[in-house]
Amino acid sequence: MKRYSICIVGGGSRYTPDMLAMLCNHQERFPLKKIVLYDNERERQEIVGKYSEILFKEYYPELEEIIYTTDPKEAFTDIDFALMQIRAGRMKMREKDEKISIKHGCLGQETCGAGGFAYGMRSVPAVIDIIKLIRQYSPECWILNYSNPAAIVAEATKRVFPDDYRIINICDMPIAIMDMYASVLGMKRRDLEPKYFGLNHFGWFTHILDKKTGADYLPKLREILKKPVDVQTEPLFQEPSWKATFHFMSKMINDYDEYLPNTYLQYYLYPRKMFEKEDPNYTRANEVMDGNEKETYEKMEKIISLGKIRGTEFELTSDVGCHAEYIVDLATALANNTKEIFLTIAENKGAIENLDPEVMVEVPCRIGSNGVETLTVGPIKTFYKGLIENQYAYEKLTVDACLEGSYIKALQALVLNRTVVNTDVAKPLLDDLIEANKEYWNELK
Ligand code: G6P
Ligand code: MN
Repeated sequence: MKRYSICIVGGGSRYTPDMLAMLCNHQERFPLKKIVLYDNERERQEIVGKYSEILFKEYYPELEEIIYTTDPKEAFTDIDFALMQIRAGRMKMREKDEKISIKHGCLGQETCGAGGFAYGMRSVPAVIDIIKLIRQYSPECWILNYSNPAAIVAEATKRVFPDDYRIINICDMPIAIMDMYASVLGMKRRDLEPKYFGLNHFGWFTHILDKKTGADYLPKLREILKKPVDVQTEPLFQEPSWKATFHFMSKMINDYDEYLPNTYLQYYLYPRKMFEKEDPNYTRANEVMDGNEKETYEKMEKIISLGKIRGTEFELTSDVGCHAEYIVDLATALANNTKEIFLTIAENKGAIENLDPEVMVEVPCRIGSNGVETLTVGPIKTFYKGLIENQYAYEKLTVDACLEGSYIKALQALVLNRTVVNTDVAKPLLDDLIEANKEYWNELK
């Protein structure tokens, strides 16, 4: 079996340790020769790097090379896969997105609303620069991109690298939701096949099929989930704000008479309610910085000072959650041409019949050595079509604004966003965001 070389772009991130643990757990399925961690911030890269050396010595002795670096040439030369999870501006800028938006009476959520807009304007130039560098040193590697806001980033990569079918944009939320369905049904996610349509963080499950019998569990799931359910699948989902998000799913299911919504639709369908829940002094960024992020780095520091993992409280378990696992599933599908189905972000090209072909939709796709092939969804009803076209126009204008440096398109984007709407709110909000993002955004004229 071929052994692959991979680079984790954003290697210093709080998500990296779980991904590394997952790569250790899946070495038989996805055998690796070299793992590179690349980050533009030396300090946090070093913590994850030193931790990874201990981890791999104990759990991945077959690995021939471990590199952690801030040098793109060293990072991207001779790799088969780049796994991209960058956050331009890090959590500090996420906090600003949230707090500036709230100050103007709008939602600052990471990927939705004005927060997602601001993050998109930072992410797009950063992602494009890195992909160009990757292509310079590894012209043919697969680039699995899950940098947020994925909908906007995917629209940008499609435009800037139109023929590069080896760039795959994907989000774990549909899989995380599927895991929740499986646990509620007392089944395994792999036994279920989803039918789904929409945009990233903006979609609906229409069927949840039993792979063996073809039975559709969606009606049963709707009944169960009409009452708030505590999700047991991911440690992340035990945090108060995620708990609340999954509970709110029941409200959406009760208010609408069909399908099962992606959790992120709460921000678009109930923007006022979601805004009322915000604490202007303590946002999700604060929660993450004080909680998961801090704990993750502290744990690595402890392991580094112990010099070992085996025989300590940090011993790896077989279960590191789906958050990272789907990446290996995807990589093996690409490498082995399995044609397995994933919910992926890709050009519509007729999958949703009554939507423009160039829309970057999130739908079931077959994944193989030729990349992503969208599967037929058929026509969608007026309500969803209206929402999706509005949201996609917002996403397109955000990318236009960024690539063309256009102030008016940025303003139009914000006004189209269902969580902003008012021009007299959008304008001063945009001006504040421009001021805060000087270091990161392309200049708007
Ligand atoms: C899910 C979403 C991601 C998001 C992540 C963390 O996995 O699909 O897009 O970044 O949750 O969100 P959080 O608010 O916990 O940082
Ligand atoms: Mn996502």
